[in-house]
Amino acid sequence: MKFAQRVERIQPSATVAVGNKASMLRQKGIDIIDLSVGEPDFKTPENIVKVAKKSLDAGDHGYTSSKGILELRDAISRYFSSKCGLEYGSDEIIVTPGAKQALFEAIMTIIGEGDEAIVLTPAWVSYEPIISMAGGKITRVDLEPYGFQLAPAMSKLKETISSRTKLIVINSPSNPTGAVYSREALEGVRDLVVDNDVMVISDEIYKEITYISEYTSMGSIEGMGDRTVTVNGFSKAYAMTGWRLGYMGAPANLIEQAAKIHSHTVTCATNMVQHAGIEALLNTGKSVEKMVSSFKERRNLILQLLSENGVDILTPEGAFYVMIPAGDNGIEWCEKAIEEAHVAMVPGEAFGAPKYARISYANSVENIEEGIERLCSKGLI
Ligand SMILES: Cc1ncc(COP(=O)(O)O)c(C=O)c1O
Repeated sequence: MKFAQRVERIQPSATVAVGNKASMLRQKGIDIIDLSVGEPDFKTPENIVKVAKKSLDAGDHGYTSSKGILELRDAISRYFSSKCGLEYGSDEIIVTPGAKQALFEAIMTIIGEGDEAIVLTPAWVSYEPIISMAGGKITRVDLEPYGFQLAPAMSKLKETISSRTKLIVINSPSNPTGAVYSREALEGVRDLVVDNDVMVISDEIYKEITYISEYTSMGSIEGMGDRTVTVNGFSKAYAMTGWRLGYMGAPANLIEQAAKIHSHTVTCATNMVQHAGIEALLNTGKSVEKMVSSFKERRNLILQLLSENGVDILTPEGAFYVMIPAGDNGIEWCEKAIEEAHVAMVPGEAFGAPKYARISYANSVENIEEGIERLCSKGLI
């Protein structure tokens, strides 16, 4: 059988592959500590679950308007404005089944055959495959030599960006590094993208999970409103990964194009899940605060444990990941970690950082302590 080149060009998600390996070893009775997972280890707040049940009972079973129910888009519009300094009207928002779908639609709208997109590495695993499916050409700017930060990499970015560049993807807080980019860095990006007429997709899915007081949304920077697509979702902030709910805000002309892809692929996000999303945005401040403070404690714990064992890394300021050095070959290092120490982590290769491994600390204190202890006992750190 012959398949399309677009599928031949991409590989299955590496994070999913590690999860599969961990469950296979568990089935053999091996006690695996899974520090690979990219989802909160909390349940969705009860009030959100209640609203979803009520919505099902009330008969919200049909399609909704393709871009999402107006009440939810209004709530997202208010969230953008009050929390991010972004002005997207409800007509400039599409509600999607997960942020991943929003990213897919945005990239498909901007990138065509041969168009260049810049990805800052280490980068989340799906940007490059989606750009590649769209037919785009990927140019990487590696932030590893700059401590995973964007501000010190500005001259490198300046060297790389050109009038051929159509898109740059920014992800702050970053998965996998936990870096949060400063206003100064984002203003630097603004100057470059305006000069070269480049669009920005700003993936802000970890925005609520930050441990510093200052956070800047790319689209809120002067001059960026009409060239930024802001993507966010409910998976991480409200522990709703399996519900599949996300969204994008973008200038009206871009939304008009993306809405065509949306309507021909998913039609709309699930009806009762959208109702639950309204509750999440309006009534869960305290639950989010509690989750974030718990993640912060665990981040501090893991940094302390690593430092006690001679691994000093820069303090991640958001998300729930740390990147740690993993010898010369992160894939082999992670293989050894899972086979011998029974600790699952994602090889940095998956993010474009082959000498690292990503640890997720969305796990219990006991598991984090035990996991680091096991890695030490096998001489991995
Ligand atoms: C950086 C980043 N963007 C987007 C997503 C997709 O999230 P969703 O579950 O909303 O599709 C993830 C999920 O891991 C992520 O880490």
